Amino acid sequence: MGAISVVGAQWGDEGKGRIVDYLASKADAVIRYQGGDNAGHTVINEYGKFALHIIPSGIFSKDTINIVGAGTVVNFDRMIDELKNIPEEFHNNLFIDVRAHLIFPFNKDLDGAEENTRKSNDKVGTTKCGIGPTYADKASRIGLRAGDLLLDENILKDKIEHLLSSKNKTLKNYNLAEYTVKDIFDKAMVWKNKFKDKIQDCLPIIEKLVKQGKTILLEGQLGVMRDIDWGVYPYCTSSSTTVGGACALSGVPFREIKSVVGIVKAYTTSVGGGPFPTELFDDVGEKLRRIGGEFGATTGRPRRCGWLDAVALKQSAYLNSFTDIAITKIDVLDDFDTIKIATSYTVDGKTTDYLPDTEAQKRAHVNYEVVKGWMTSTKDCRTWESLPEEAKKYILRIEELIGVRIKYISVGPERDQLIIR
Ligand code: GDP
Ligand code: IMO
Ligand code: MG
Repeated sequence: MGAISVVGAQWGDEGKGRIVDYLASKADAVIRYQGGDNAGHTVINEYGKFALHIIPSGIFSKDTINIVGAGTVVNFDRMIDELKNIPEEFHNNLFIDVRAHLIFPFNKDLDGAEENTRKSNDKVGTTKCGIGPTYADKASRIGLRAGDLLLDENILKDKIEHLLSSKNKTLKNYNLAEYTVKDIFDKAMVWKNKFKDKIQDCLPIIEKLVKQGKTILLEGQLGVMRDIDWGVYPYCTSSSTTVGGACALSGVPFREIKSVVGIVKAYTTSVGGGPFPTELFDDVGEKLRRIGGEFGATTGRPRRCGWLDAVALKQSAYLNSFTDIAITKIDVLDDFDTIKIATSYTVDGKTTDYLPDTEAQKRAHVNYEVVKGWMTSTKDCRTWESLPEEAKKYILRIEELIGVRIKYISVGPERDQLIIR
């Protein structure tokens, strides 16, 4: 069947984990291709409720191979903790590509220190997982990769020494504690002992699956608006969150990606800094946060909440060539008598339905279309026909504005609370 790329179409936390968990029951493999444990992908199934950070959301499907791919950055301490919560019967099918970069404690220290140098109104609001500094080491070609853990110990020590010669200077500049080669080597040995059988060159596994025509899910992290290039730079993450990232980083060649599913929350949320044009600062925003349970799965921070932004979504749809949309959290809007959709922005006196770059987004005035709510529960709807008329109208209007068919409609966090249209 080929590969299906699952991409967050907004600012993140759209419900990617929930949709990947559902699709994974029919998939042969799930690959996380970018990001690290900054992700918080919530999966609720018969085994419990899980906030997966670095482990792919297909982990609960026993016959599905789960790969932490070449383009990711991995904190193995976090992976050890995460595995403790997942029944052991599911651990067998987890692999980490030799090319994945290692997040060391000093990069977490530096993530915090770099944020502290920013003015209070200009923070990125990172998850402080060390994501940015680790991708910076990768780009500077001083980073260590998962495969390095398996090297001859003296070669590994040399690599650590080279990395630390640079990092300790930076740590010192920030008045942070420096690290010795032994500190890092000892940690590396703990990680090696735990994961030596799981760290593999995953490309042959992926190539074989591709050639056999197997179904592979490419699980994106975060959303398009936090992409390093197309997002709200510098209030973004340090990797490519779009299908372009999946093409470059997953090991699945682009022609094998047969569909691209954009995950769209029925309204919008954002954690962290930067412009968010449809943000609500009033009771309506608070109501969305309360009913939607909008608190970060990684940091517990209250998520900023606002109406659906069709201007941003149109750009996401273009950049990713979405073939289908999955809309989540329709049920959260069950108790709103009116709902708004952003359809254009006015920037410097000019009205446009094109999403401008970061600084212009900060100045944008948002123009809304008002839609009637349905004021009845959708939680138990399992067919398109059973949805209230006004909910159908809302969904169809979004489809019209984005120009991509809405195939999946999620009306609750549980596996079965999903309508396939
Ligand atoms: P991700 O990072 O994109 O995987 O999304 P998160 O897991 O961070 O945030 C989505 C939240 O919404 C989680 O708490 C999910 O359990 C929950 N969720 C997902 N789909 C639905 C839905 O259709 N309705 C409701 N009420 N909650 C949902
Ligand atoms: P999922 O995959 C929401 C945000 C941070 C910050 C910016 C950069 O669950 O959607 P980073 O730690 O990556 O350097 O932070 O991105 N951020 C997220 N927001 N969900 C996430 O993951 C996020 N991962 C990072 O708040 O603004
Ligand atoms: Mg999340």
